[in-house]
Amino acid sequence: MKGVILAGGTGSRLDPLTKYINKHLLPVGPYPMIYWSIIKLRDAGINEILIITNQHHLGSFIQLLGLGEELNVKLQYKIQKNEGGGIADALMSAKSFINQEKFIVLLGDNIFDDSLTPYVKSFQQQDTGARVLLKEVEDPYRYGVPQLDKKENKIISIIEKPKFPPSSFCVTGVYMYDQNVFQLIEDIERSNRNELEITDVNNLYIKNNQLQYDILHGWWIDAGTHESLYKANQYVYENMKEEKK
Ligand code: G1P
Repeated sequence: MKGVILAGGTGSRLDPLTKYINKHLLPVGPYPMIYWSIIKLRDAGINEILIITNQHHLGSFIQLLGLGEELNVKLQYKIQKNEGGGIADALMSAKSFINQEKFIVLLGDNIFDDSLTPYVKSFQQQDTGARVLLKEVEDPYRYGVPQLDKKENKIISIIEKPKFPPSSFCVTGVYMYDQNVFQLIEDIERSNRNELEITDVNNLYIKNNQLQYDILHGWWIDAGTHESLYKANQYVYENMKEEKK
């Protein structure tokens, strides 16, 4: 299985840190943020990784990571055509890299404790469709929120940033897809915030009865704001202390 890391976007919620530095190159613990996604994929046995970023930051990523030799992975790069076009729009740039296989996508600002290995294994056993990872959070209205039928182990629908969240879970930025995702992206339209939403793509999988889920057990954070970036640093340092004990 191949991996895709989305590392573009404008990072506007981290302004002015992101005025000239890409969000995914900001420090989280001792590393630039993007390292954590690469390490999570590599530790789950995924070595072929595509990084999608915007044109003016591409040079920094190449300078930092090269072809991935130091981290023991094989990296390729693609430019996201429409900066601020949304997650699904950016993902479209992975089409030629993927080529008929199932794959995993990480949003590069999602930092978390769980190993991806068991989830990747479950997805490998799943014939077709998609799989998302959920996490229980205190502020679900900030995310994509699933309405769950826990008895049937099913997601009934996902609402993006709902005022009245239908559950206390969020859909994290870890997505696993079959190659149909590219067709489904072509079928969706721009949202109110003028983006191609990954939530709309996931809702199409639900409609086709093809979306499965797992729940993350450890800490998880979307490091896209000043406060959450600070928290991500705290989690990482605390975890490193625990590991040393
Ligand atoms: C995006 C997705 C949202 C998801 C979140 C996870 O939100 O749209 O569904 O829950 O990532 O980090 P955004 O970062 O675009 O606000």
